[in-house]
Amino acid sequence: MLSEEKIDAAVQALFDGIQFTQEPAGLYDPLRYMIKIGGKRIRPKLCLTTYALYQDSIGPEVLEPAAGLEIFHSFTLIHDDIMDKSPLRRGVATIWKKWGADTAVLSGDVMCIDSYRRIAQAPCEVLRKVMSLFSATAAQVCEGQQYDMEFESRAEVPIEEYVRMIGLKTGALIACAAKMGAIIGGASDADCDNLYEYGYYLGLAFQVADDYLDAFGNERIFGKPIGGDIINNKKSWLTVRAFEKADTTRRTELLKALGLPSVSDEEKAAKIARVKALYRELDVTEDAKYEILRLNEKALEYARKATDGVRYETLRRFAEKLVGRAK
Ligand code: IPE
Ligand code: IPE
Ligand code: MG
Ligand code: MG
Ligand code: MG
Repeated sequence: MLSEEKIDAAVQALFDGIQFTQEPAGLYDPLRYMIKIGGKRIRPKLCLTTYALYQDSIGPEVLEPAAGLEIFHSFTLIHDDIMDKSPLRRGVATIWKKWGADTAVLSGDVMCIDSYRRIAQAPCEVLRKVMSLFSATAAQVCEGQQYDMEFESRAEVPIEEYVRMIGLKTGALIACAAKMGAIIGGASDADCDNLYEYGYYLGLAFQVADDYLDAFGNERIFGKPIGGDIINNKKSWLTVRAFEKADTTRRTELLKALGLPSVSDEEKAAKIARVKALYRELDVTEDAKYEILRLNEKALEYARKATDGVRYETLRRFAEKLVGRAK
């Protein structure tokens, strides 16, 4: 079985050597910038990890689709940063900040197309399965992003709706990465489905962690602005849980804090501080940590159904790294 180090090195080499069309530079430079600044690349790593459960060496039949998953993910981030008005990503200026929203839309579009081209390099025997999985996933990400935006103008969102939303915007692509590697690796249908669920629950845990870090992370390490979700009135896991726990008095305080103006920098800082103070008072910060661990355990239940021994251990370690993340 391939080691984690070999898989990480393969992903590194894959993106070091990746080529994109040169002209027009105005279209492809943002794409190159986005891929060069990297990120954690967990989706291609997960795809190669599940593939390696069934195969002993890695070749283009899985490397191209793995690259496609990361390029698709990066495309969704470019559009997400326009939608979320976010100036910083992976520690550097976002594409719309650097090149303007028009360019960000079009560079994102061409990345989406590039990702399809690479995913279509999957072996003929599994191509139909891979393409239908990927297309369904891509639509789910859009659906999740739409719910995410719609929730901004709602005062309260029940936890079930929140979970459905993050399952679509984040869980689906991570699940797809896990399943795609397994499909190309030649896993049974049952294994593919269990690995999908493993990825899905990892994805839910990953988004709860992202919501937590958005408020309580370190900007330098996280690479994104702290408090962006609060300013955008996002219904993050912290918000949803806070409403769930709050009594009438706290509920009124929360509504007041979330309704504070946030135009000037001073107002933004004051609103972020007030909302965070309420999250702390309600102890939803601790609840988030517990929820991440619970979802992670759920992911591992599915990993256990798909595999055992050293192979299970690989999936457990992959999950462990995500749970402990600060970026
Ligand atoms: C950010 O994804 C968007 C979410 C789904 C939370 P990542 O945290 O994987 O971002 P990068 O690719 O490492 O920058
Ligand atoms: C996840 O949501 C974005 C996508 C699934 C594209 P966020 O809006 O929370 O992601 P970040 O925090 O900007 O990376
Ligand atoms: Mg968003
Ligand atoms: Mg965002
Ligand atoms: Mg976020």
